[in-house]
Amino acid sequence: MPIPAIEMTDITKIFPGIVANDRIRFEVAEGEIHALLGENGAGKSTLMSILFGLYEPDGGAIRIRGRETQIRSPNDATLLKIGMVHQHFKLVHNFTVTENIVLGMEPRNKWGNLDLRAAEKRVAELSETYGLAADPRARIENITVGMQQRVEILKILYRDADILIFDEPTAVLTPQEIDELLDIFRRLKAEGKTIVFITHKLKEIKAAADRCTVLRRGKYIATVRVDEVDENELAEMIVGRRVNFRIEKRELSPGEVVLGIENLRVIGSKGVPAVRDLSLEVRAGEVAGIAGVDGNGQSELVAAIAGLLPVKAGRVLLKGKDISRESIRRRNVRGMGLVPEDRHKHGLVLDFRLDENFILKSYREAPYSSFLGFLSFPVITKHAETLIEEFDIRAGNGPGTPVKSMSGGNQQKVVIARELDLSPELLIVAQPTRGLDVGAIEYIHRRIVEERDKGRAILLVSFELDEILGLCDRIAVISKGSLVGTVPAAEADERKIGAMMAGVAAHG
Ligand SMILES: Nc1ncnc2c1ncn2[C@@H]1O[C@H](COP(=O)(O)OP(=O)(O)O)[C@@H](O)[C@H]1O
Ligand SMILES: [Mg+2]
Repeated sequence: MPIPAIEMTDITKIFPGIVANDRIRFEVAEGEIHALLGENGAGKSTLMSILFGLYEPDGGAIRIRGRETQIRSPNDATLLKIGMVHQHFKLVHNFTVTENIVLGMEPRNKWGNLDLRAAEKRVAELSETYGLAADPRARIENITVGMQQRVEILKILYRDADILIFDEPTAVLTPQEIDELLDIFRRLKAEGKTIVFITHKLKEIKAAADRCTVLRRGKYIATVRVDEVDENELAEMIVGRRVNFRIEKRELSPGEVVLGIENLRVIGSKGVPAVRDLSLEVRAGEVAGIAGVDGNGQSELVAAIAGLLPVKAGRVLLKGKDISRESIRRRNVRGMGLVPEDRHKHGLVLDFRLDENFILKSYREAPYSSFLGFLSFPVITKHAETLIEEFDIRAGNGPGTPVKSMSGGNQQKVVIARELDLSPELLIVAQPTRGLDVGAIEYIHRRIVEERDKGRAILLVSFELDEILGLCDRIAVISKGSLVGTVPAAEADERKIGAMMAGVAAHG
């Protein structure tokens, strides 16, 4: 047997109130692509943070390339040629690609001056070798999120990493960028690198990984060869029960028009029209979906409906009433709910507690406020406990947990739980399941369908074609800010929608 690149045995890590890692075993062979799976809160990031020296384990042993080691800091990890690309990037935005990469280990010439030319050359070489297509002189603020991730990869390659750890690298990427990243993984492997990546997407695991390890609630479940299991078996290992990928829903019986969009024009951040002359209706009791390649006006459309961006021309109607110029709060009161794309910016107050985030929109009302305006804390706590239970939100300290200490997936559940609980007449959901595990996705899909069956109008924006096809009654495809066409879900399939996303109008 060859010596494994990584061997972690009996790793235990205890946080106040929770055993995040409970005697976990994790073994990765030299030169393999190994996926780490588990529900949100299963302990994946904790385990990888221990491997990278960010946390000290309370127990267990680590062997790297056969040698027992103590990894007390990221510095130790770097010396062991271990590199990590985090979920949230750590780049300096007004620095160039190369300046970010050399930060902390700036190359000097023989006079002791900074030698950026040499570094740029090395960065260009690395970029070439691994097919990263990075421009060493570009500024971070001017490049896409996908390219920023490649800068993080270059940063660890520049430090000679052999073992590369990625924490949910595809959660921030578009489908196209995901394919490219998986290609980069294959290229890294071909050059002899060992890769560990965390993901919730079973398709990605099937496409790229050799083996995978599953954790559940802090415990080791299994390590299997990817070609020996199917998606159903993987899903069952992850959540501990069968997962139903088919979304069951009642027959469609649409009611009155709840949301009307008429000839809408919205100007995007670059000062050019992002939504052009777009008209669309969403009726009570239906899920209408917006499909499109990222960056084709979806975000601006949602922002304009919700009041986060001004309407340049046209109108937005809620139950027949023109709300184009109303405040966000006014729109909420009229019956609009929003699960925003950017939960950190628009969905949560990270410095607040969990229970406070649940009542961000309703704290002025009974039963949370008395008629004198005092908040009723027992009611607020009880409400939070109910939602934590219903949505299976993993928060170490219950209703009092600071939201910023929670994992990304659990933060997402907080926003969704709050919006679904309010059961608004119009619910706009943008990328609702991004970053969520299979069990959570199944539950949230079911809840969205329940709202539809109750007669609510739902507008769903998603990059996941599976999600659009599974949930929607009607699918509107947009390209370059304009409506390409609308198709009833019964007549839609991946190929047809895909062609329309590329800008080909539907026939018939
Ligand atoms: N720094 C921390 N302080 C307290 N609890 C934490 C901390 N980091 C993680 N946890 C808790 O440990 C558990 C595992 O978290 P994590 O490793 O982030 O899960 P995953 O990455 O699988 O979603 C969760 O319940 C989480 O709330
Ligand atoms: Mg994590």
